[in-house]
Amino acid sequence: MKIVTVVGARPQFIKAAVVSRILRKDAEEIIVHTGQHYDYNMSDIFFEELNIPTPDYNLGISGGSHGKMTGRMLEAIEEVLVKEQPDKVLLYGDTNSTMAAALAAVKMHIPVYHVEAGNRFGTLDSPEEVNRIVTDHVSTCLMPCTESAAKFLEKEGLADKSHIVGDPMYDAFLYYGSKLTDKDRNAIVDFDGNPVARPESFYYLTCHRQENTDTDDKLREILVAMNELDAPTIYPVHPRNKDRVRRVSSGLNNIIAAQPVGYLTSISLVNDAKKIVTDSGGLQREAFFAGKQCVTVLDFVVWPETMVGNRNQLSKPDSGEILRKLSDVQTIDDTYKPFGNGHAGDKIVELLLNN
Ligand code: UD1
Ligand code: UDP
Repeated sequence: MKIVTVVGARPQFIKAAVVSRILRKDAEEIIVHTGQHYDYNMSDIFFEELNIPTPDYNLGISGGSHGKMTGRMLEAIEEVLVKEQPDKVLLYGDTNSTMAAALAAVKMHIPVYHVEAGNRFGTLDSPEEVNRIVTDHVSTCLMPCTESAAKFLEKEGLADKSHIVGDPMYDAFLYYGSKLTDKDRNAIVDFDGNPVARPESFYYLTCHRQENTDTDDKLREILVAMNELDAPTIYPVHPRNKDRVRRVSSGLNNIIAAQPVGYLTSISLVNDAKKIVTDSGGLQREAFFAGKQCVTVLDFVVWPETMVGNRNQLSKPDSGEILRKLSDVQTIDDTYKPFGNGHAGDKIVELLLNN
């Protein structure tokens, strides 16, 4: 069987690493990288560290408006599909790369298999929500990570295509988490490329969504909150926000702004941080996997399972609210494992080969 996998953004490389390792034992896989993320530390480092096979195609498409990026990807992915004639197309998550590939494939009657289907914010104001809804509704096989995601699919009349597989990010967290070295723990560099000494005790912040970073005031509120804490905050900054963070964090001496880190360094930061503040879908789950308290600076719950026992709480980008929620008491029930058993990759491959 021939599968074309389309990836483009950082979190998709991580999920593809898990599945590709298993899939290649029994099928031919062609990897298409749209080019959406392209800096070394947003792309190549993941392929190197996680041993993901070099993409067969790199379409080199990034930036521009959502419509322009998606349209260019749609055209280029269609060309690849015409050439490769795969049996199925495998997609992850909710980026513009995901939606472009879903549209290209369905128009050519190629079955689309969608991992991380079903999550919903409840507003089309979010570009990711649009990508998820479109992709889910044109897919042949939907692979939600959790029961709550499967419920949304059921409400939308998609239950008969839906199979809960667990979360490949959990697979990755367990698999790569057992391989971390001191080199991974210390591979943090500042914006000028100088090594950053990792403090004994620290908080871990990631914040990149357009909702929080398109103006100075919201990002400033988040950074002011972190600056008040009893230990420094390590903040690897998505390249889209570098200039804004440089400006907004000026004078906030408890914030260590850094270049994006590789996945291994990121999960070592999750494991060792006191607490985590983020607007990332992936990082809020990793905080949960590691038993770390998390505050998610977003208006909408995407991963309700992480919210149990105050383990993860939503906050507005308001310094007082972030600090209050960080100091709330959390309760952890170690037996509660809503993200599967670390073998989502096997289930995804089983569905791809036999469904
Ligand atoms: C995208 C996804 C988001 C996901 C995130 C993962 C969409 C709509 N959004 O958002 O769901 O959470 O990836 O990290 O697909 N840039 C660089 N270097 C890079 C990559 C990006 O400089 O390697 C800059 C470019 O100026 C680009 C901007 O960042 O225009 C935004 O990148 P883009 O991929 O459009 O969106 P993300 O914010 O990364
Ligand atoms: N991550 C990383 N380097 C960083 C920041 C995050 O490797 O500098 C990892 C993080 O641990 C998680 C994933 O990237 O595994 C989350 O991706 P991102 O926040 O970009 O996207 P989202 O999950 O919000 O779609």
